[in-house]
Amino acid sequence: MSTNAPLHRPRRLRSSDMMRRLNREVTLRSADFILPAFVREGASEPREITSMPGVMQHSLDSLVEAAREAAELGLGGIMLFGVPEKKDAVGSGATDPNGILNVAISRLREEVGDSLLVMADLCLDEFTDHGHCGVLDERGGVDNDRTLEVYREMALAQARAGAHVVAPSGMMDGQIAAIRDALDSEGFTDVAIYAYTAKYASAFYGPFREAVDSSLSGDRKTYQQDPANGREALRELELDLAEGADMIMVKPGLPYLDVLAEVAAASPVPVGTYQVSGEYAMIEAACQNGWLDRERAVLESLLAFKRAGAAHVLTYYAPYAAKLLADLP
Ligand code: PBG
Repeated sequence: MSTNAPLHRPRRLRSSDMMRRLNREVTLRSADFILPAFVREGASEPREITSMPGVMQHSLDSLVEAAREAAELGLGGIMLFGVPEKKDAVGSGATDPNGILNVAISRLREEVGDSLLVMADLCLDEFTDHGHCGVLDERGGVDNDRTLEVYREMALAQARAGAHVVAPSGMMDGQIAAIRDALDSEGFTDVAIYAYTAKYASAFYGPFREAVDSSLSGDRKTYQQDPANGREALRELELDLAEGADMIMVKPGLPYLDVLAEVAAASPVPVGTYQVSGEYAMIEAACQNGWLDRERAVLESLLAFKRAGAAHVLTYYAPYAAKLLADLP
């Protein structure tokens, strides 16, 4: 026996597919995935989003089709974003029961509501003509507390439409407590809150702005978190838990895996993450150039979230990944 023969051989556990399968720490399931979906008011046909190849701005009918497929694939849920025809300073379309998002929620609740969780983005940015996540004060800043009043109304509109889960993504202080209080005051104690707890002011939302026809001209740095800050996420976690969040989200995903891992380790409730539009666009662009293998790149990125501690993942790849999993041995 040569003297440099190692005593410990980690490779033994990698030696065959059987051995690797047995020793895998985390696995992916279709039920882990939540599909973010866009629905456009007045659209009669789905329209592809240029910067997100394969992702659509849906009509109500094509949204129903996508939701049916999602349910058949066993996805965990669908997260709805509305693209209204008209916008105004206070985002009236968000609280209007006939607004596109609320109409879409009730359609989906009727069509797939027994087999797929219907979740709704609870934020004003798609509905305001200035594109901010809240209403503005006289100096043009986002008025936190007045925005909470609108969020309460929006939460009630979504709950009345039948949302199983509302997902506040506006990063206003006190938003979880305000929304919980509004929901409970009308008896919607079963409607869950999926809080965008650690949401960063990220360049990776770029393609989403096209997806929702965003009118934003500035940035969201006065309410979304500074990308340099990790510990701050733990403070946001503490607050959201105290205010009654049922589920916690860290967003974006891959550039913030460290934050995800820390938040997941500290949270007593399920933590998910959002593989955002820019992450999707990066992978797609590379795959379309033949620079990455789509199948492997997608599954590896999703696995990274699970390994970091995510219980679920919002991803535009949800149906694609679910189909891949179904085909695996
Ligand atoms: C705000 C919201 C955004 C995203 C989800 N909710 C955009 C933003 O904060 O600027 C981004 C999602 C994505 O990029 O895929 N309602």
